[in-house]
Amino acid sequence: MAPLGRRAAAFVPCEQALTHTVGTLPRPHTLAGPTERKATTVTEAPVPAGTGAGPGVFAQATGHEQVVFCHDEPTGLRAIIAIYSTALGPALGGTRFYPYASEHDALADVLNLSKGMAYKAALAGLDLGGGKAVIIGDPAKVKTEALLRAYGRFVQSLNGRYFTACDVGTYSADMDQIARECSFVTGRSVAHGGAGDSSVLTAYGVYEGMRAAAEVTWGAPTLHGRTVGVAGVGKVGHHLVTHLIQDGASVVITDVDPDAVARVQAEHPDVRVAPDADALVAGDLDVYAPCALGGALDDAVVQALSAKIVCGAANNQLAHDGIEKQLQDRGVLYAPDYLVNAGGLIQVADELEGFSFDRAKQRAAKIFDTAHRVFALAAEEGVPPAVAADRLAERRMTEIGRLRGIWLG
Ligand SMILES: NC(=O)c1ccc[n+]([C@@H]2O[C@H](COP(=O)([O-])OP(=O)(O)OC[C@H]3O[C@@H](n4cnc5c(N)ncnc54)[C@H](O)[C@@H]3O)[C@@H](O)[C@H]2O)c1
Repeated sequence: MAPLGRRAAAFVPCEQALTHTVGTLPRPHTLAGPTERKATTVTEAPVPAGTGAGPGVFAQATGHEQVVFCHDEPTGLRAIIAIYSTALGPALGGTRFYPYASEHDALADVLNLSKGMAYKAALAGLDLGGGKAVIIGDPAKVKTEALLRAYGRFVQSLNGRYFTACDVGTYSADMDQIARECSFVTGRSVAHGGAGDSSVLTAYGVYEGMRAAAEVTWGAPTLHGRTVGVAGVGKVGHHLVTHLIQDGASVVITDVDPDAVARVQAEHPDVRVAPDADALVAGDLDVYAPCALGGALDDAVVQALSAKIVCGAANNQLAHDGIEKQLQDRGVLYAPDYLVNAGGLIQVADELEGFSFDRAKQRAAKIFDTAHRVFALAAEEGVPPAVAADRLAERRMTEIGRLRGIWLG
């Protein structure tokens, strides 16, 4: 078989190719996906000798256990499933349906995202590994029942090593279609026993993480009397605003979508509005909550920030390596994104036990304690919280994952 370099990775008419990969990607706190970053941050590994075609699968990845290429020509399915780790249990992560500019971009994204999921699940205390899948194409144009069901058969073929869920471009109704061919699906519609909108517990977890950060910073686990800036009041952001208002915070919001702003204002007339994220950041804030796209924390933002805490839902907030240190040097407490936004994962993971909102909410509430553990470790080891979060996640993967080596007869 030809090496899977950038050119050679073009899909050939075979159903599936399996690879085991090696290499080094950025640490999770600087991972980024195409819809969640301002600039492309694909990691270019050295071109392997002899291919002449750019980095291939083995050169790009990262200690992933398995990367699966799924192709069904009649339906147009081109999907990649990446399993970073099953040390703690089956890999769980959503399926992103996105019109990637190239197969290379799709591969880079799925490798990044699957690694991030492993860290998120580990830190959230779940018995789950990390995986993710991407389907290449514009969902508005190519998503069909047949394509989703073809994809479901590939997920089924992994026999439970990977559980899928919703992500950008996929919805509960799609999961219901996939589940017609596959037993390893979460994020299903409520009618099929699913958890429904995961942004409810995502927002709750962010709020709990913010309370922990407030306690570390000001001595009390409340946002009462504080000014919190929320950038992005979509599914998660608008629920977060409600928690903050109920806690007695003064809230300033911004969103590029005027309808999203109007919806929050209708519910909470006292909320103030900033013209854009730059103006919000430059204003007088105690807490900044990025809840829109990734890459929200770049050099300029860190310099402009008056807030003492950054805690928001957006994935991959740190624009590049080193931002976490800049925040620390400026005396800003950063609550790592994948720590505080794990509520949605906790919610869909709960479906595996037969969904109970109350149980999932109790688990999401533990983000408060986990945030305290991260901040304490950061202080103890003299590192930024983003690094402490990675360390805690890695320790759990190693310590608990090791137990699976005990032979059970
Ligand atoms: N939904 C979940 O359960 C969940 C779970 C974990 C992480 N996240 C992350 O949280 C973030 C928000 O997710 P969501 O589900 O609320 O998405 P969403 O699309 O519902 O909301 C995002 C909002 O941000 C706004 N926005 C986009 N660009 C902006 C900009 N430059 N300035 C201000 N506002 C801008 C959009 O108009 C939209 O209203 C994303 O980064 C997502 O990956 C979401």
